[in-house]
Order: sequence, then C-alpha cells, then structure tokens
Amino acid sequence: MMLSTGLPPVFLLLTALELSWSLTDEEKRIILDGHNKYRSQVSPPAMDMLKMSWDTELEAFAQAYAEKCIWDHNKERGRRGENLFAMAPTLDLEFAVEDWNGEEKYYNLTTSVCVPGQMCGHYTQVVWANTHRIGCGAKFCEKIDGIETEDMYLLVCNYYPPGNVKGRKPYKEGPSCSQCPEGRVCVKSLCESTVEETTPTSVTTSTTTTPEPTTTSPTMATVKPELTTIPPTQTQVPTTSMAKPKPTVPEPTIATGKPKPITLTTAMPKPNTTTTAK
Ligand SMILES: *[C@@H]1O[C@H](CO)[C@@H](O)[C@H](O)[C@H]1NC(C)=O
Ligand SMILES: *[C@@H]1O[C@H](CO)[C@@H](O)[C@H](O)[C@H]1NC(C)=O
Repeated sequence: MMLSTGLPPVFLLLTALELSWSLTDEEKRIILDGHNKYRSQVSPPAMDMLKMSWDTELEAFAQAYAEKCIWDHNKERGRRGENLFAMAPTLDLEFAVEDWNGEEKYYNLTTSVCVPGQMCGHYTQVVWANTHRIGCGAKFCEKIDGIETEDMYLLVCNYYPPGNVKGRKPYKEGPSCSQCPEGRVCVKSLCESTVEETTPTSVTTSTTTTPEPTTTSPTMATVKPELTTIPPTQTQVPTTSMAKPKPTVPEPTIATGKPKPITLTTAMPKPNTTTTAK
C-alpha cells in the first residue's frame, strides 16, 4: 500500500507526535494557580472576583494557535481574551503569569488609566473579575513570526468571557466577595462555583470584531504583544458625523487611546539569554 504523500510512515508519526506536544497537567496547574493567586490578592480588594477554572476547549484553541508560532493576536479568537508570552531558552510559566500581573504597578484602578508608554492589558485580563475560564497552550518555535530571536517558547492563554472591555474596570473595588454572583461562595477572597462548571458553548461563536494589534519589535527574550481591547457589546455612539463608514478597527489600547509599541520587560528571567534583536 502506498501513502499518497509519498512520505515514509515513520516521518508521519514523528510529525504527529511533535504537533501533539502540549502543557503537562503540572504546568497547567501552575498557570491556573498563578492566576487565582493574583486574583485573590488584588489591592484594593474585589467584591466580585470569580475563581478561574481550566477549560479544555480554550486549551485546545490556544494550543492550536501556539503551534503556528506567530507573534500577534489570533484574529480568529472571537469572544475570547488572549495573553501571549515568549521566552528563551526555557519557558518559566510561573514567571510568565507573574510578569503579566506585574503590569499592576502601571495601572490606576481609580482612573482606569495605564501609565503612558506602558502596558496594562495583560494585568487587567489576569484580574478581570468575570473571566472565569482559562486555557493555554505552548510551543517551542525555532522561529516565531514577528520576533527575530530564534528558538523561543511561545505561550498562548485564552480567556472566557474576555476581559479588557473598553470603558470597564477589571473588577469592583470593595469588601472581598461582597458581590459574588448567585451560586458562588467565597473561598480565599474568590467567588468559587459550588457546582461543576460546564464549558460554555458561546466560546466557540465569534461575534465581535476585534482590533488589529500593533506591530511589535521585541528586543529581549521575554516579550509580550500589546493587548487589544474588546469593544463593548452595547451599541456605540458614533463619534463622527462624516459620511464614511466607521472603522472596524477600534483603538487598540486599554486606557490611553493610542497604539503603543511593545514595551521592554525590565525583568530578565535568565541572565543567560543571548538575545538582542534590533
Ligand atoms: C490614581 O489616580 C488618582 C487620580 O489622579 C490619584 O488620586 C491616585 O493617587 C492614583 N492612585 C494611585 C495608586 O496612583
Ligand atoms: C548558559 O547556558 C548554557 C547552556 O544553555 C550553560 O552551559 C551555561 O552554563 C549557562 N551559563 C550561565 C552563566 O548560566
């Protein structure tokens, strides 16, 4: 019997194995626990912070996108939030989540303003109160499209419901758990579900137009792209009376209203990284 591709069976097997690489249960646990730790520790405290749980559909979605090795947000992500992270020579998942959360120092919850020139959207997604599902995938990429550094790991996390809804704050400030939704109980400052959750089917339907991310040129081994803002689902008031159609691309930033270039991560994870692209 001949295989139509003409490739020997052993090659096909290896390819399949390589593509099926994904995070281990332990690694998923690190990512999930990291998120819930930072969510439980927000300051000022949150009245409505849901506990996150792992979602295998989001995981499969994130893994499939990670396989593509692209340094840009997934244009097919629909109503899912997304954080990206790239690192070499190893992938430190605890560090990745810590780094996203570390943008907290640039974010003013009172004013919902991010320090100009900085990014806050990874942080606001991590602590977005009603985001209660997360799934991530990772891939070792010899070349990531959009990053000059070679041989990096790419981490993709998708979230549901998505955070960073324009004009909204990540969470309601006030006494911990004082506004947990029905059916949830307070455990360690997080509103935890009392029933086993099922994967929401709405995750799979793409409904919103998502903005184009900014082009990035990272210069270090740990990098993350600008977050994109999800437009509000309510009807938007037109801001112009001109006769041309509204742009389908909303402002791609969280708070300052202007696209921001990639910001360097000041914390080098490993002193050993040999990466100085432009
Ligand atoms: C946030 O901004 C408000 C108004 O400008 C300011 O009073 C407050 O001190 C800021 N908070 C932090 C933590 O910087
Ligand atoms: C850098 O990494 C290489 C292998 O990746 C290792 O042999 C070497 O000891 C490391 N150097 C430092 C300073 O960590």
